[in-house]
Amino acid sequence: MFQRNYKIVLASCVGLALAACGGPPSSPTSDAASTDAAALTLPVSLNEMMVGPVDEATYALFDVGNAVRNNTQLPSTDAEWREVRDNALQMIAMGKILQIPGTGPVDAQWTAAPSWKAWSERLSAVGLEMLQLARERNTVAFIDAGDQLLAACEGCHREFKPEIPTMNTYRRSSFPTPGEQ
Ligand code: HEC
Repeated sequence: MFQRNYKIVLASCVGLALAACGGPPSSPTSDAASTDAAALTLPVSLNEMMVGPVDEATYALFDVGNAVRNNTQLPSTDAEWREVRDNALQMIAMGKILQIPGTGPVDAQWTAAPSWKAWSERLSAVGLEMLQLARERNTVAFIDAGDQLLAACEGCHREFKPEIPTMNTYRRSSFPTPGEQ
């Protein structure tokens, strides 16, 4: 599950680099262009990013706090903690990636709004906090951090999310899209 998401994020980052530079930088001028965030675009829609890597990292991160709450199986092995850390890294990255417009019809408008940027930054900030908690293996603090993450998702959804997803892509588990699963 996680591995597949990881590939999605990597694939989009490769797309970013190419879209921004059109190849390897060859002069100081093209270096400057490649650092101009406004010139970056994603080769996929923000709707897909949301349903894929954002949503799935969220569930993995919520699982830790939920396991404390429900007294169920906590991460214990090094590999399990590495996966929690990787999902926190994914959340940090997604908070930044969501600030780059993709192929969705409203992406450019959303990413231009200052409050969109602020909500996205919250994902990165809480992700960073969770990365630290994972390093410390502090399971109890994942309850509060999970609540903070949820508040960021819900805050942005209240402000921006349309009733029907723009690309007709829903949360995978509850609304499989044709061709998936
Ligand atoms: C910066 C704003 C923003 C943040 C932060 C955000 N979302 Fe979204 N999300 C949206 C928008 C806008 C849509 C609708 C996309 C569309 O229709 O193209 C959406 C759609 C979704 C969808 C797909 C639609 C559906 O109803 O199934 C899921 C799943 C989702 N978000 C999960 C999350 C989760 C989980 C978080 C928190 C970790 C989160 N989002 C944080 C703006 C945000």
